[in-house]
Amino acid sequence: VSQTKSVSFERAAEFYDRTRGGLVRGRGFAARIAPELGDASRVLEIGVGTGLVALSLSELGFDVVGVDLAASMLAKARERVGARVAQADAAHLPIRTASRDAVVAVWLLHLAGDREGVLAEAARVLRNRGRLVVICADADYEMDEISNAIGDMRIQLGRTRDLPPEVIRLAGDAGFALVNTTHTEHWKHEVTPEETAATLERREMSTLWDLDDETWTRVVQPAIDRLRALPDQHRGRLTVASHTILVFEKAQ
Ligand SMILES: C[S@@+](CC[C@H](N)C(=O)[O-])C[C@H]1O[C@@H](n2cnc3c(N)ncnc32)[C@H](O)[C@@H]1O
Repeated sequence: VSQTKSVSFERAAEFYDRTRGGLVRGRGFAARIAPELGDASRVLEIGVGTGLVALSLSELGFDVVGVDLAASMLAKARERVGARVAQADAAHLPIRTASRDAVVAVWLLHLAGDREGVLAEAARVLRNRGRLVVICADADYEMDEISNAIGDMRIQLGRTRDLPPEVIRLAGDAGFALVNTTHTEHWKHEVTPEETAATLERREMSTLWDLDDETWTRVVQPAIDRLRALPDQHRGRLTVASHTILVFEKAQ
């Protein structure tokens, strides 16, 4: 079994909220997660990042704690939810067995090195019939000028590690039964071609962090060139995306 290293977002704390939809996305996702949690009150978010979803779930009345690998992301999360977050690998949770009613993983499993370990730990800390809610990073984008310009790059750098069938298979192996599949609301955000090109040039997407020069020249640079060739570089274009939500229950 080949095991890759987890992708920590240590370098992303300063630009994460700005480039990943901020609290508007956090609140939108939390509103979709909440009805899937049944009567849960004690929630753990693994890969809590800057706490956008954790804060939003707290606002809805859940008792949320979180872990993340990246100290810089946790510093931002602490500003939002206080000392309810800790630095830990989701594959080795500093959390008591059967002590949580629900585990939430938003845009985490494509980054985690030991996905089997992460899911085994989620199962361990959940009580019987506890829920695991996964929001996949892979998204359906409505076509707009920007998606057109970078769609090909998205596919070629494709993150297939958290496609729904793969997550369902891995979760099944860890003792979870799928109880619902749904989608996030189409989250909309306005970006200009200029900003998008600059975001790519600054490598603010995790798929670009360690990309080799050859792939950059072949895949990313043409996308940047297409963006820079669009008219009205500073006019915002509406980008609309929706992510799959998978809801699992820990089998008894
Ligand atoms: C794309 S961010 C998502 C953050 C948050 N869930 C959100 O929706 O805004 C993924 C986070 O997972 C963290 N991460 C990656 N691998 C991890 C692991 N094995 N254990 C804990 N956190 C991990 C990264 O450091 C990053 O902060």
